[in-house]
Amino acid sequence: TPGLARSPQGDFMRSTRTRPSAKANGVGVQVEDTRICVVMVGLPARGKSLIAQKVVRYLGWLSITAKCFNVGNYRRTNTPQPTAAFFDTTNKEGERLRKAAAEAAVTDMVRWFRHPNNLIAILDATNSTKSRRRWIKDRCDAEGIETLFVESKCDDEDLIMGNIKEVKLTSPDYQGQDPEEAAQDFRQRIRMYEQVYQTLDEDESDMTYCKIIDVGSKVIINRIQDYLQSRVVYYLMNLHIKPRSIWVSRHGESMYNLSGKIGGDADLSPRGQLYAQKLPELVKQSAGDLPLTVWTSTLKRTAQTARHLPYEKLSWKALDELDSGVCDGLTYADIEKEYPADFQARDEDKYNYRYLGGESYRDVVIRLEPIIMELERSENILIVTHQAVLRCIYAYFMGSSQEKSPWMEVPLHCLIRLTPRAYMTEEERLFADVPAVSTWRAKGSEAVHQDTPESSKRGSPSLKGQTKTEAQIDGKS
Ligand code: ATP
Ligand code: F6P
Repeated sequence: TPGLARSPQGDFMRSTRTRPSAKANGVGVQVEDTRICVVMVGLPARGKSLIAQKVVRYLGWLSITAKCFNVGNYRRTNTPQPTAAFFDTTNKEGERLRKAAAEAAVTDMVRWFRHPNNLIAILDATNSTKSRRRWIKDRCDAEGIETLFVESKCDDEDLIMGNIKEVKLTSPDYQGQDPEEAAQDFRQRIRMYEQVYQTLDEDESDMTYCKIIDVGSKVIINRIQDYLQSRVVYYLMNLHIKPRSIWVSRHGESMYNLSGKIGGDADLSPRGQLYAQKLPELVKQSAGDLPLTVWTSTLKRTAQTARHLPYEKLSWKALDELDSGVCDGLTYADIEKEYPADFQARDEDKYNYRYLGGESYRDVVIRLEPIIMELERSENILIVTHQAVLRCIYAYFMGSSQEKSPWMEVPLHCLIRLTPRAYMTEEERLFADVPAVSTWRAKGSEAVHQDTPESSKRGSPSLKGQTKTEAQIDGKS
C-alpha cells in the first residue's frame, strides 16, 4: 500500500513508497495510508456525539481531515420529531426510515472518502446491533475503508439522567416540548434500544474496536492495527468528563515587548511584574478555591509571571514561544527590511510559514500535541505561555481555522478561562488593570507596540462572552 508521511511543512501527504511499519518519529508524525471509518456504538445519551465531535476537532487541529456523519441528522429529514414509539423495533415503518437514514449517511461517507485528503470519518449512530455493525463493516471493506468501532458503555442511571438533562432536552427532536415529557420520552427511547442492544463481544473479535466502559474507568481494545487507529484510541483513553476549566495567559509584558522585539528570553518590564503580582488575585476571582496546577514554559518571562501563584508549578519546553530562528531579537520592521520576501511570505500563509532556522505555527501545533493530551487527562490547569503558543492551544479548544488562529488578538495582561461543555467550549476573559503594549500585528503592517487602548480590550465583542465550537449535534437514528 502507498504510505502517508509528513511533508517538509509537516502536514500529511501521500507518498508512493511502501511503509510497512510507519510510526511516530518524535519530530513529525507518519501515518500509514489508511482511511478509517470510526463507527460509534452505544445506547442513546452515552456521549457518542460528544466523543465524535472531539475526535474531529482534535484531528482537524493536527491537519488530518476528518468529518462526522451523524445519522440522526439524516433521520430528521424524514422524521424531525419522533416519539419513542418510532424507535420500537416492531415498528416496521420506523425501522424502514431509520435504515434509510443509515444508508444515506454511509453513502455520503463513502463518497466523501473518494477525495484523497479525506482520512477519517466518524459514523455517529447507535449502531447497537451486531447485524448493523456487520453491514457497515461489509460496506467499508468493499471500499477498502478500515473500520474502528468505538463503543461507549455506561449503566450509571444518575449519569445518564444528567446527560439527558444536559443535552437531550435542547435537541431539535424535542424543540418546543415540555421538558418533563421530553425527558420521559427520551428514557422510553433508551428502553426501545435496550431491547435489541448488543454490546461488542467475542463474536466480533475479527473487528477492530475500542470499548470504553464507565467513562474510561475500563477500556478494552481489540485488533488495533496501525498508527492512526492507535492515535485515535490513545486520545479516547485520555478523555474525561469531570467539570473543570483551563486558564491561559500570556506572560506579563517583557522588556522585548516594550522594544517591539520578537523571541528572546527577556525579563519582565515593571508593568509585567505588576501583572505577576496581580495574577494570583485575578485567578482567585475566577477559580475561587479550586485546586490548580500551573504550567509555564522554560523561558524567564513565564516563570517570572507565575512566581507569586500559590500552586504547584511545572515547566514545559513544549510551551516555549514559536522559534523565530534568524529573526529572533528583531522587530517586525527590522524583519521587513532585512528579509522582505520572508516578511511577505509569512503574511501570505502565516500558519505554514517557517522562520529560517526556526518554526511555523504548524510546527508548534505538532510539538504541543503531548500538552493537549496531558490537558485532556488533567483537571484544572493554569497555563502561562506566549502569544503564538496560546493561539495554538486556543485553536484546539475553539476549533479555530488555520487561516484565522495565527492572527488572533491575545492582549497581554489578560487571563482567559476555557471551560469544556458538551459540544462546545465556553470562554471568559478577565483583564488585570495593568496597561501593556499591544504586540499584535495586522496582516500587511508593522506592529506599533503602543499601549493597548482600553476600547480594543473590553469593547471588542470577540473578547467577551461565550464562544461555541460546533453546532449542537444530537439524536442518532
Ligand atoms: P444519542 O445516541 O442520543 O445521540 P449520544 O450517545 O451521542 O446520544 P451525547 O449527545 O454525546 O450522547 O451525550 C452527551 C453527554 O454525554 C454529555 O452530558 C457528556 O458529559 C456525556 N458523556 C460524554 N462521554 C461519556 C461517556 N463516555 N459515557 C457516558 N456519558 C458521557
Ligand atoms: O511579540 C511577542 C511574541 O511572543 C514573539 O516573541 C513571537 O515571535 C510573536 O509574539 C509571535 O506572534 P506572531 O506569530 O504574530 O508574530
